[in-house]
This record gives sequence, structure tokens and C-alpha cells, in this order.
Amino acid sequence: MEKLVITGGNRLEGTVEISGAKNAALPLMCTALLTDEPVTLNNLPRLADITTLSDLLNHLGVAIAIAGGKGLMMRGRSLTFDASHIADTVAPYDIVRKMRASILVLGPLVARMGEATVSLPGGCAIGNRPIDLHLKALEALGADIEIEDGYVRASAPNGLVGGVVRFPFVSVGATENILMAATLAKGTTTIENAAREPEIADLALCLSSMGARITGAGTHTITVEGVEELSGTTHAVMPDRVEAGSYAIAALMTKGNLLLKNARANDMQAALDVLSEAGGIVEVEDDGVRVRSNGHVSGFNIVTQPFPAFPTDMQAQFMTLAAVADGASVITEAIFENRFMHVPELCRLGADITVTGSSATVRGVNALRGAQVMATDLRASMSLALAGLVAEGQTVINRLYHLDRGYEHLEEKFRRVGANIERVND
Ligand code: EPZ
Repeated sequence: MEKLVITGGNRLEGTVEISGAKNAALPLMCTALLTDEPVTLNNLPRLADITTLSDLLNHLGVAIAIAGGKGLMMRGRSLTFDASHIADTVAPYDIVRKMRASILVLGPLVARMGEATVSLPGGCAIGNRPIDLHLKALEALGADIEIEDGYVRASAPNGLVGGVVRFPFVSVGATENILMAATLAKGTTTIENAAREPEIADLALCLSSMGARITGAGTHTITVEGVEELSGTTHAVMPDRVEAGSYAIAALMTKGNLLLKNARANDMQAALDVLSEAGGIVEVEDDGVRVRSNGHVSGFNIVTQPFPAFPTDMQAQFMTLAAVADGASVITEAIFENRFMHVPELCRLGADITVTGSSATVRGVNALRGAQVMATDLRASMSLALAGLVAEGQTVINRLYHLDRGYEHLEEKFRRVGANIERVND
């Protein structure tokens, strides 16, 4: 079993190369299902989730190869996805259970093939994460939805028909699913109360380069004029704002100075505002965002909300910053019902955190002390790694597979800027 061993106390200084965004790459890979021409994606991160979705696309009949190279490797940063021959429209449980974002094949498959059967993704550690909004949106475009034996089957034998999709609350995945499906629907689709995350704009950019006719991506209302077919394209995945935010916190906590190369400030303004409030000095440079410390970390308050408000995916990491701040912070998780699993692990490291309902009150302590801790979900595992960077002594993090789902070359990136961190095998 692999573990991460971190010895705290080093100041981090230098440049961290921010990878392509996992949460942009996953829907972008699904666009390949919408066309019989090759889709090449550059700047793909080398992550377990990318491999899992590649396995699913492969199962459906999508040929995947290193762009310009031969053979089927998953480690390349540029991959070409060729869905000219869809062999199957069933996404099986044993693949979907590994990653719930597999549900993003549903919209493209039913739009291109007239049918799709996808295993219900089930919940995960941070909540039961239903897909009712995805299904209602497809029904609004004329799909017939049936659920049986743990699978959802969507069918539209005569093709999808444009319509009005009104989301009662914001859903990133449901917006992505219906945006992709609407590109091949007959007529116009309007998506109201659409998610505005930067990953949506990146997806729309890619779809437009394939010939889709989309306006309003990144705003509350997206309009799509359906087209007969889409062409292939080459698209570079946007940089990962959540990864960048995580390293920005590391700079502040270790009173260091990091250049987050390729990071785009506009994608993460709410998080940068909190960092500045907490004592960070944030400077936008030509090739990224620089974060350094003013020597002091102050408490702050956060409520997670859809973009452009503070992102839920950075909540756990900011809680670690709050744990070593002067004074108290209040962090409210308003998106997921169970996203405080990092709290008991942080308390094992000496943090002083009290959870009441969906809010956590964090009283800063002078020092954290290293201990054995357990990763419970992707972003929680990064919050533990950040704590290890400043905790006295050694912190050992178990269940690294959570980290490997979302952070490319984590220990190399931290080591390169001065952290005392290594991955060991039990
Ligand atoms: C995406 O998940 C991200 N994942 C999540 O990142 C992120 O936390 C989330 O958006 C919110 O920003 C990917 O992009 C692959 P939602 P998604 O639909 O699309 C409820 C990470 O750490 N809901 O916006 O699943 C849902 O339960 C991951 O990288 C319904 O009730 O999130 C949640 O409470 C974690 N019914 C809220 O809406 C639905 O049909 C927001 O979920 C869909 C969602």
C-alpha cells in the first residue's frame, strides 16, 4: 500500500507547473462521441480519472492513441479520440462505479446514437450525488428515460429535439451533459440557470471548434442551435484552477513564494480574494499567478457556492489554511451534504475544528503535529498533504489513490519547490 510521508517545516519557493484541469478534461473527452472524426486533446493531465474514462470510451468503441504517435498509451499528454465506430452504447457498472463523471457519456451517446444505457453512478464519499437534473434535461429534449436494474436507459430513436431546460439549481455535470446533447438536437435549446464554471466555457469552446453553434457559455443562459453533425478538432485543456488554488495555499502556509505557471487568475478570483484576505500577496504575471506570504495568516469566512463564488472543490484545502491562522474562521459547505470528512483527520494533526450542521468553526492553533492520517476523498487528501507541509515532525497519508485521481505528479511538484515529501510503498 503506497503512503505519502511528509516532514513539515520547509519554506516552499519556486515554480509549480499547473496541469490541465481534470474537471475540464473529462467532459472534453466525451465530445469525441459526438462526431465520427478524430478529436485531439492537448494538455491532458496524467490522472487515474482520465485513465478510467479512457477505459470506458474504449469499451464503447472509441479508438484512443497518442496524438501523432502509435499504439494505445494512457500516459501521453496529447491523445486522439476516434469515435468513428461506436461498438456499444452501454456503459457498464464495473467501470462507471470507479468514477461518477462517467455519466457524461449519456448525453453525447443518446445525441449521436439515439440511445444510451449507463449504470447509475451511485453516490460517493461527499454525498449521494443524484443525476435527476441530467435526466430531466434530456427528457426536455425529447429523450425517453427508463431506470431499471441499476441502469438508466435514454432513447431518442428519431433524434433529440431542441427545447427549454430550466435547472432549479446549478449543476455542473447536468449543464455539461445537456450542452453536449443539444449540439446535435433538431432546433434550438435554451439552458436556463446553467452552471458558469470555467470548465463549461472550455467545453463550449471545444464544441464550437467542432462546428457547434453555442452562445452564452459562462453565463446563466446558454443557447444552442442544433446542427446535423460535428467535425473533429484539436483543443488544449484549460489549466486546473483547483490544483492551482491548492498550491497557492501551500505558498501561504509555508510563508513561501510560488509562481503557479499557466494558472489563470480569472478562473479562481473568489479563492484568490480569500487568500489575499488571509495574508497572501497575489500578483498576476505573464505566465501565471504568483502567491507569496506577508508573513502572517489571518482567519477568514467562506461559503461554498457555484462559480463565480467560492468553489466547493477548494473548501477542504482552505480549512487547512484556517487551521494555522491567527484567530477563527467559519467555513460553510453549501453544495455537498457530506464534505467535511477531512475534519477528523485534521483534528488528529492538532487542528481545533468544530462542525455544526453545514458550518465548521476553525480556531487557528500555533502548530500542527505530524501523525498517521487517512485520505477519504480527493480534495480532503490534498488538505492533509498541505497540513503535513507545516506540521511538526512526520505526517503519513494513507489511501493515496484518492490523491492520484486529481493531482498529477504531486510529490514531484512539491519536492521541486523545497518540500520534504516522498511516496513510499509499505
Ligand atoms: C462537478 O461535479 C465536479 N466534478 C465536482 O468536482 C465539483 O465539486 C462539482 O461539480 C461542483 O462544482 C467534475 O466536474 C467531474 P454538480 P458534479 O452537479 O457535476 C446536486 C472534484 O473534487 N445534484 O454541480 O457532480 C449534487 O448532489 C469533484 O473534482 C443533484 O441533486 O456537481 C450537488 O449537491 C468533486 N442532482 C449539487 O447538485 C443532479 O442531477 C452540485 O452538483 C446533479 C447534481
